[in-house]
Amino acid sequence: MGMRVFVAGGTGVLGRRLVSQLLDRGHQVTATTTSAAKLGQLAQMGADGVVMDGLDAASVGEAVATARPEVIVHQMTAISTAHAGKPDIKHPDRWFARTNRLRTEGTDHLLAAAEATGVPHVVAQGYASWNGIREGGWVKSEQDPLDLLEGTAAHVGLKALSRVEDVVLKAGGAVMRYGAFYGPGAIDDQVELVRKRKYPLVGRGTGYSSWVHLDDAASATVLAVEQKATGVFNIVDDEPAPASDWLPHLAACAGAKRPMRIPVWLARLLAGDQAVVMMTEGRGFSNAKAKRELGWQLRHPSWRQGFKEELA
Ligand SMILES: NC(=O)c1ccc[n+]([C@@H]2O[C@H](COP(=O)([O-])OP(=O)(O)OC[C@H]3O[C@@H](n4cnc5c(N)ncnc54)[C@H](OP(=O)(O)O)[C@@H]3O)[C@@H](O)[C@H]2O)c1
Repeated sequence: MGMRVFVAGGTGVLGRRLVSQLLDRGHQVTATTTSAAKLGQLAQMGADGVVMDGLDAASVGEAVATARPEVIVHQMTAISTAHAGKPDIKHPDRWFARTNRLRTEGTDHLLAAAEATGVPHVVAQGYASWNGIREGGWVKSEQDPLDLLEGTAAHVGLKALSRVEDVVLKAGGAVMRYGAFYGPGAIDDQVELVRKRKYPLVGRGTGYSSWVHLDDAASATVLAVEQKATGVFNIVDDEPAPASDWLPHLAACAGAKRPMRIPVWLARLLAGDQAVVMMTEGRGFSNAKAKRELGWQLRHPSWRQGFKEELA
């Protein structure tokens, strides 16, 4: 039986694929954008498009009340240049300022609307790429804490993500902790930097990251919606890997020269703490729980093959 699904942020790189997979599975989808110019695109996909500002409680309340969904999916971020301006890796607090608000205030508005209109289930976007606690093994499960990088410019964003988990779980929902996305439109900026040799390895590149293809991230989310899942799930591929492994491979797949290598002190100066932690001490994640509990099957089990296919 098809469900009525409300996708807040239905036009982003993941939102679009999620909307299309939900429609393919026979669900009725209301998808939001902040831009009336994108309503045609949503209609063409077969979704009911609605203009909504996730930072405006009234706008959210009205959109949800009109759609009367059975489940709300929160995929609102403001990371693209259109919403955030130029990427600023050294100052993630500035680059992600609006995204962090969408993750705090935006989540609160959606949860309030869900409660007011009797929507029983919420699924939200989380993050699990390199941000596992920096002690012990290199690959973390949902039982291990996340690293909040206290005392750095990354802290406010990681704290916002942790808050998403707290409030959504309290409301009986699920948080999909996606690895680093790749797939159509997801890493164009990174690939451009790699091609210009402006994406160096830091130190010995020992820090781990987890990746996930957009199609797999979307399919896991569909399962969480259909199964009314609760709890957190690491939505990552089968092969968490150190930067010294995936970055040269990404460069090779992009037809670029091998990445440069720069010392930690220089990276800290140029790119800040987050980049240094990610590349030298990052901890990746295991997807065992999502496979076991959601029955998730990946179409792209490893970035190794995935990068090759995407950049062919
Ligand atoms: N786990 C990960 O690695 C991860 C997660 C998220 C994003 N990213 C990356 O970030 C980059 C940008 O992502 P993106 O292309 O999806 O774009 P984005 O700018 O982050 O937007 C995502 C969605 O949020 C919506 N949105 C933005 N501001 C909003 C607001 N105030 N209220 C309600 N909705 C709002 C957008 O709608 P409109 O633009 O239509 O208004 C869009 O549907 C990509 O490279 C992507 O791969 C990575």
